[in-house]
Amino acid sequence: MKKGLFRLGLGGTVSSDGTRPLIGLDEITALQDRLVLADRRLRKGAEEAQAGHGWMCLPYREIDKVRTIAETIRESDAIVQIGIGGSALGNLMLNNAFLHPYHNELSRKERKGPRFYIADNPDPTSLLGIWDCIDPERTSFIVASKSGSTAETLAIFLWFMESLSERVGEDRALKRFVFITDPEKGLLRELATKRGIASLEVPPSVGGRFSVFSPVGLLSALALGLPVNEMLEGARMLDRQLAQKSSVRGNAAWMLAALHFLHFLKGRAMAVTMPYCDGLERFAEWHAQLWGESLGKAGKGSTPVRALGAIDQHSQVQLYVEGPDDKLFTLIDVKEKGPGFEIPGSGIEELTTSGYLAGHTFSEMLSFEAQSTAAALMKAKRPVIWLELPCLDGKRLGALVFLYEMVTALTGLLFEVDPFDQPGVEQGKRYTYGLMGKAGFEKDAEEATSGFGKVFSESLSS
Ligand code: PA5
Repeated sequence: MKKGLFRLGLGGTVSSDGTRPLIGLDEITALQDRLVLADRRLRKGAEEAQAGHGWMCLPYREIDKVRTIAETIRESDAIVQIGIGGSALGNLMLNNAFLHPYHNELSRKERKGPRFYIADNPDPTSLLGIWDCIDPERTSFIVASKSGSTAETLAIFLWFMESLSERVGEDRALKRFVFITDPEKGLLRELATKRGIASLEVPPSVGGRFSVFSPVGLLSALALGLPVNEMLEGARMLDRQLAQKSSVRGNAAWMLAALHFLHFLKGRAMAVTMPYCDGLERFAEWHAQLWGESLGKAGKGSTPVRALGAIDQHSQVQLYVEGPDDKLFTLIDVKEKGPGFEIPGSGIEELTTSGYLAGHTFSEMLSFEAQSTAAALMKAKRPVIWLELPCLDGKRLGALVFLYEMVTALTGLLFEVDPFDQPGVEQGKRYTYGLMGKAGFEKDAEEATSGFGKVFSESLSS
């Protein structure tokens, strides 16, 4: 059994005397009291089920009903999850970490569970693409929407529902759906109650982007055979560890929040997350939503940037090393990245100079590349956080997810913004309702039309 959840190297972010461009340890220690209060506030909020705080309780919740429904839909040939933002990105992250990279292309025998599709963007080409790939009568449809009123999700649901009803009739079609939504509010809840559609609840105190350990992320994870117990255990382990660490120099979440906050104040307006492991590519995407939507308020919040090593060494690293010093980097390495096969040597004379590659595993090669990028960034005096996992298993991913949820919430409190609301998103949602003609949003339609009209106050054509 491998030890430890992860290891953090922070030397690339601090300097002993705090000389620019890095951060002094004294500056970090000075945030201790604020972090104590922020942590206390989050834990109290969770205990009292205050709005947005419920995610901290998710790893401790009972999930028997989710398991029962998962057992049923597991028998399907495919699952289509309809949902957007926090109702899609967590699922993609978990599948990316644990499913075969070409899961949908494997035969039923080779796969652990059904094929899986996310229908998040209301782009007709993608929706029809999914429809073309599934046998609708052997497919289960999950509709995930915390609010039960998101226009994209409702539109996609209506389309799949109608397409399916045309084949099998409305009653049989409705039986193929499971709704995951608020226990009381919203259109989906109303429909589920009136028409007896199978449904699960998103606790009212859990926001969309923090919902991956609610049925939103867990139903498909269980149906696909992902290591759900281990993930929840990893999250709980980390929660307990963090709760016992009361100094910023010992508490990983406090330290990471402090670093992101302080580097932002030093002008580093971007936070780059760059895993060197394909299974964490979607983690960076999930994290980007979590970070962006939670922190981007009142002119504050660093912009999350997703990158993937080694691919972005051949795309972005030039900019990272020699471009503006406006980024804080988190490089994530996984020591054992799956199959340990080696790069072979070759007897071909013309290939002699490639001999240095031979005998190294591919996993080792990616780790060396991650180390090289860290070293190059640090040589250029760019701040680097090094996060290292012994392997990518359920426990480590669970801990990583919980860690970054905690870091995000704490950073929000350091910025003095509410990490759990999203007024900027709501504005766009209201404009869309107005433009699509929803009753009660006429004023929004007017505002959106006049606002968009200004885009053409200067124009050219070709
Ligand atoms: O984090 C959030 O609240 C949002 O990103 C939501 O997940 C997204 O807008 C979808 O909302 P809903 O789940 O209510 O359909």
